[in-house]
Amino acid sequence: MSDSPWFFRTVIYQIYPRSFQDSNGDGIGDIPGIISRLDYLQDLGVETLWFSPFFASPQRDFGYDVTDYRSVAPEYGTAEDAERLIDEVHRRGMKIVFDFVLNHTSDEHRWFAESRTSHDNPKSDWYIWQPGRGKKPPTNWSAAVGGSGWHYVAERDEWYFASFLPFQPDLNYYNPEVKEATFDTVRYWLDKGVDGFRLDIFNCVYKDDQFRDNPFGFRYIPKENSFDAYFEKKVHTANHPDNFVLARELRTVTDEFDPPRFTIGEVFGENDVIRRYLGEKQDGLNLAFLFKSLMLKLDAREVNDFLLELEEHYPTPMMPVMVYSNHDRRRGISRFGGDVASAKLAALLQLTMRAVPVLYYGEEIGMPDGDFPAAQALDPIGKKFRWVPHALVRLLGLYINRDGARTPMRWSEKANGDFCSDEVKPWLPSVGLAGTSVEAQREDAFSLLGSYRKLLHLRRECPALHKGEIKILGGLSRDLVAYDRIEPDQVVTVALNFGRKRQVFACSDQKTVLFATDPEVQIEKMNLNLPPRSGAILKSASN
Ligand code: NOJ
Ligand code: CA
Repeated sequence: MSDSPWFFRTVIYQIYPRSFQDSNGDGIGDIPGIISRLDYLQDLGVETLWFSPFFASPQRDFGYDVTDYRSVAPEYGTAEDAERLIDEVHRRGMKIVFDFVLNHTSDEHRWFAESRTSHDNPKSDWYIWQPGRGKKPPTNWSAAVGGSGWHYVAERDEWYFASFLPFQPDLNYYNPEVKEATFDTVRYWLDKGVDGFRLDIFNCVYKDDQFRDNPFGFRYIPKENSFDAYFEKKVHTANHPDNFVLARELRTVTDEFDPPRFTIGEVFGENDVIRRYLGEKQDGLNLAFLFKSLMLKLDAREVNDFLLELEEHYPTPMMPVMVYSNHDRRRGISRFGGDVASAKLAALLQLTMRAVPVLYYGEEIGMPDGDFPAAQALDPIGKKFRWVPHALVRLLGLYINRDGARTPMRWSEKANGDFCSDEVKPWLPSVGLAGTSVEAQREDAFSLLGSYRKLLHLRRECPALHKGEIKILGGLSRDLVAYDRIEPDQVVTVALNFGRKRQVFACSDQKTVLFATDPEVQIEKMNLNLPPRSGAILKSASN
């Protein structure tokens, strides 16, 4: 494992640019604001920063609807600011990942504006156009957010397909010019020093080119790790085999660059599908999200089974990815019941298991979800479902207004948390109970922020933690999970008590505590005492 690439050992931190730091008093986060907070991130100990898109966009999906992949939306700054960001991140010894929305553009992109005008313009075949079946759409394919994915354009008397929202038309990757344009953009940013890309809905890029209907499926509401929904099995619109080929082609592009660059795919599917994105010879995407982790409960059996599953499906030389939160999901801490002890336990697991951890801004201070009713949504999905009563949304555990996960970062205890001044109205309200801020937690080693900081630094210092193999320990009591991380010269043990009662973990030799989530974690002789919802990292006293 010692020659694993740097991006298998890193920790990724996702920033939603609109919500990190406003620098000019318009209530919208921006690149100069982010640059002013890079010292904080360096000190926190995160190593790779992934930015949700800040490219030119009408912002109807807040940047996931791009009109120019090489320029920056004015509210976020300029192209020079983006280049300064790359340099400033590198100057602090960190890496930088951009978000690449390759599946679709905005309908305001000049490519689409041209494409929609006629059958024979130079861009006419850049998007997926089909004649309808009478007055009906060409196929039964639904969009990821429900409803038909097809939209009629009178000028062409044809329909275009959009996997996501109607204003996000899908590009046609069977057209070699489209693929070339995408590869050129990839090279453009890699030339500028970007270290990798997060690939937006990569599993949707290719659709059946014979336009066959999707078969019936029993699922109506989508699951975290699947696109099957709305009584449709998305065999022709998700995880098409040509996507796996594209993963390998893209890999040859990123592999042209030195020092090594990487891709991390937003892909949905079971483990066998995810594996295909990584390539049989590990010659596809370098990393892929495993969204099953978003469903993980902090329960010892579930966690234990999940760790075993990852080792079964992604053994070395593969590397799984571990994520609890992102800009599309209810924040992790709000799923875990809102308590800090659980959040610390989750952090301990995420930062010590064998996986690349992906953190989401504000997770380190326990920012809760906004839980905003869809009726007031700015998020286009929330808007689409604004008629659904909030009580029903809660009852069914749905997440349809993503504004809740995107509230401004809380730097201080002030009303707007110093994201912007209190005289300014931030684009979304600042949310967090007293104590949910960097300022309030910074000096306290046992705060959530203090725990993240300590864990991140330990992970970096201990080879066993950032590149060791994992051995999951068996024969433990019902509420415990424990594993060793193993490097030739170093073994560290991690023990987690997911229960509501004190537990004792019997160590195999004399150990000392490197980290504990709770000041009451103690070692007596060879017994580790773990209070409810607590955990620790141990090393042998002899090395
Ligand atoms: C997935 C992104 O994470 C989400 O925010 C976006 O709305 C869709 N893809 C469409 O690009
Ligand atoms: Ca601003």
